[in-house]
Amino acid sequence: MTASHATPPAASDRTPPNADHDWWRSAVVYQVYVRSFADANADGIGDLEGVRRRLPYLRDLGVDALWLTPFYTSPMVDGGYDVADYRDVDPLFGTLADFDAMIADAHALGLRIIVDLVPNHTSDRHPWFQAALTAGPGSAERERYLFADGRGEGGKLPPNDWESIFGGPAWTRLPDGQWYLHLFDPAQPDLNWRHPEVRAEFEDVLRFWLDRGVDGFRIDVAHGMIKAEGLPDVGFSTLTTGRRQVELLGKGRLPYFDQDEVHDIYRAWRPILDSYPGGRMAVAEAWAETPQRLARYIGPDELHQAFSFDFLDATWSAESFRKVIDTALAESAIVGAPTTWVLSNHDKQRHVTRYGDGPEGLRRARAATLLMLALPGSAYLYQGEELGLPEVLDLPDELRQDPAFRRTGESRDGCRVPIPWNGELPPYGFGPQGCDLSWLPAPATWGALSVAAQTGAPGSTLELYRDALRIRRAHPALAADAGDVTWLETGPGVLAFSRAAAGTVLTCVVNISGGPAPVDGYGDPLVASEPLTARDGGRLLPVDSAAWFERR
Ligand code: BGC
Repeated sequence: MTASHATPPAASDRTPPNADHDWWRSAVVYQVYVRSFADANADGIGDLEGVRRRLPYLRDLGVDALWLTPFYTSPMVDGGYDVADYRDVDPLFGTLADFDAMIADAHALGLRIIVDLVPNHTSDRHPWFQAALTAGPGSAERERYLFADGRGEGGKLPPNDWESIFGGPAWTRLPDGQWYLHLFDPAQPDLNWRHPEVRAEFEDVLRFWLDRGVDGFRIDVAHGMIKAEGLPDVGFSTLTTGRRQVELLGKGRLPYFDQDEVHDIYRAWRPILDSYPGGRMAVAEAWAETPQRLARYIGPDELHQAFSFDFLDATWSAESFRKVIDTALAESAIVGAPTTWVLSNHDKQRHVTRYGDGPEGLRRARAATLLMLALPGSAYLYQGEELGLPEVLDLPDELRQDPAFRRTGESRDGCRVPIPWNGELPPYGFGPQGCDLSWLPAPATWGALSVAAQTGAPGSTLELYRDALRIRRAHPALAADAGDVTWLETGPGVLAFSRAAAGTVLTCVVNISGGPAPVDGYGDPLVASEPLTARDGGRLLPVDSAAWFERR
């Protein structure tokens, strides 16, 4: 299980873009959902060569790094989060040579590459799980996963009351009578992280990708790898109370999440990351009951960052945003690491739609982006948000591929529709010229949202992102070590904060008040999500918009 499939590229191709070890602290990271980004080989599915060809677009957009969702060998039951070979590229996405070419070009353009690591579970097609199925109960092969005998007469009830995040029981019974644990789909069996071979394997997988030059890892389900000894019941389930256990995520304790021993794993990983040059980092997708418990994932001997997901649940109100920001900044102070802001990702409804589908949602989403990009810390953008893409709500059920859909009726496919690049007709240049395939259909209305349609168009969302990212990169008050957030007195429904550095003060104002808000006294406008209007020699910020101002 440790052999490489191909020789890593020469060291000269692996040199990180610059020597700034702390690059991640204020980085803008663009999440590429690979199968929906760009299709180079005309099969209707995005691929690594598609990413490579679009790198100049991302450089021009002004991001610092890309996070690529899993592109490893996979039966694609959960969009690649079911990995059958951690050291190879799925043929759908290309080859290892394509990966090497992509990362070499990215580095040449000054872009860093973060890859997704999925350590909590493998695919059921992984050779280890296949061997465990064949070897049968009591075998050493089953020790690498969490197999158990059932309860009740003949063991016909699951070993405990745990529920899958995707709905239904977290256990599936095999014809030989044993059950195995899967916190997600039955095609994603959970690994036994108390097994030394599992630990050794993933340490080697880390090295495999570090050797290929990756700048970091996004750790999937980073809080899940260790389960409580004895696999105790949660004590309630959907069957008994109608309440799903997943509702406790981030709010309560579950015996399958955030167990103390998980930190041993990260303490073993950190020296590996630190042994490579150029600031290799890891960001955790972790959920914990309290900020204090989340803080334990972060630090010089564990991981570098953990996503702050609070923005994903914020409603469109000044109180809600203020609370999210204050909480996240307080958490950041506890963890001693900058906040990682996220407005959208591949698991959540796009923020344009969360804030109200149609013109109102887009207007608010643009304002929220200026708010996020003015805050200290790093920001994770999800592909297509720079185009103002809405969630696609009317995908036909038979085309939906999210495994959660079959189990709960909820589906994440609507935020995974391929990116519109150019042209008037779907799939809008997703593939090479003449190719009209795309694994999910794009709406007939997306021509006006394409990259080509928005490039150079005054007031377009794409140009707004480009402007904001250019200013963020250059402005001293928005740099990693710039001053704290200082909240300013405003009228109700208006948020305003300043950050100061090098003799300049940058003020971000967001107007959620329901009417135009005066913005005099903050200095010169640098960028605004809607044009400011004039009033009595002063300026007004329109409703549901945001702007940055500079005072020297
Ligand atoms: C990923 C999901 C995935 C799940 C199981 C999550 O953290 O973001 O897309 O379905 O893990 O791997």
